[in-house]
Amino acid sequence: MHRLQLIEIEDQSWCPVTLRDGVTDFLCTAMALADPYAPVRPMLLEALKRCGTRQIIDLCSGGGGPWQRFYPALQQDLKHPLQLWLTDLYPNPQAGSELQRQYPQQVSWWPEPVDALEPPEQPQGFYTLFTSGHHFRPEELERILQQAVDKGQGIALFELTHRSLPALFLSLLVPLLVLAVTPFCRPFRLSRLFWVYLVPLVPLLALFDGIVSCLRSYNPEELRSIVARLGETHYHWQIGEKTSDRGLTPLTYLIGIPPN
Ligand SMILES: C[S@@+](CC[C@H](N)C(=O)[O-])C[C@H]1O[C@@H](n2cnc3c(N)ncnc32)[C@H](O)[C@@H]1O
Repeated sequence: MHRLQLIEIEDQSWCPVTLRDGVTDFLCTAMALADPYAPVRPMLLEALKRCGTRQIIDLCSGGGGPWQRFYPALQQDLKHPLQLWLTDLYPNPQAGSELQRQYPQQVSWWPEPVDALEPPEQPQGFYTLFTSGHHFRPEELERILQQAVDKGQGIALFELTHRSLPALFLSLLVPLLVLAVTPFCRPFRLSRLFWVYLVPLVPLLALFDGIVSCLRSYNPEELRSIVARLGETHYHWQIGEKTSDRGLTPLTYLIGIPPN
């Protein structure tokens, strides 16, 4: 199946905030309930240890992604303070508020919109992208990697979406998942109930963007060719797929660790 650079509605500036936040809040709550990134947590931990990371810049954070689960576990394993900055082109600072309440000194939303293609000079740290690498064209992804290399920072990209028939089939179930997961979404918003159950635009948006996400996901071979275009970086690159016992499709990963 060829990769298609289609358009996701949530990426468009005209997408109503309520609908975009409805989808990213759903994703974040689903991550907290199902912990689908668990199989790659040890890989991220190992990378953070090798880089001696004390600060993480999460790009394209959406509703906070897997951090409700990841942050406490990584913090405990690393045994030193870990600062986490959540960032997005369309920040949703209400998202991940439970995590920020638990770790007010260590977890924060970057107050300004952050374009992953032009992250601010500060803060600097290990860059992470969860299920957002597919938003970018190959040359844009190359630019994101190059920026991390230029700053001498580690970078890790993990994708739950997968360009395959089983993944596309599973995407068809997403609207049902939105209906099931919405009662657990926080903060409580009446508008969320309206746009999920009365006028179900959030489930439909999640379905459309979910299918497009699968169709534009990268496979390991494509990621390797993007890394090859960076030239000699002296980074240690790990690229592949990790089979998950929690889902029918594997998780794709790309991890770049700078030389010591
Ligand atoms: C599928 S969501 C993933 C959210 C989260 N990382 C997760 O795992 O649930 C993709 C996110 O990428 C953001 N995004 C899209 N283009 C971006 C860009 N150029 N810079 C920063 N964020 C971007 C969107 O606003 C959206 O929140």
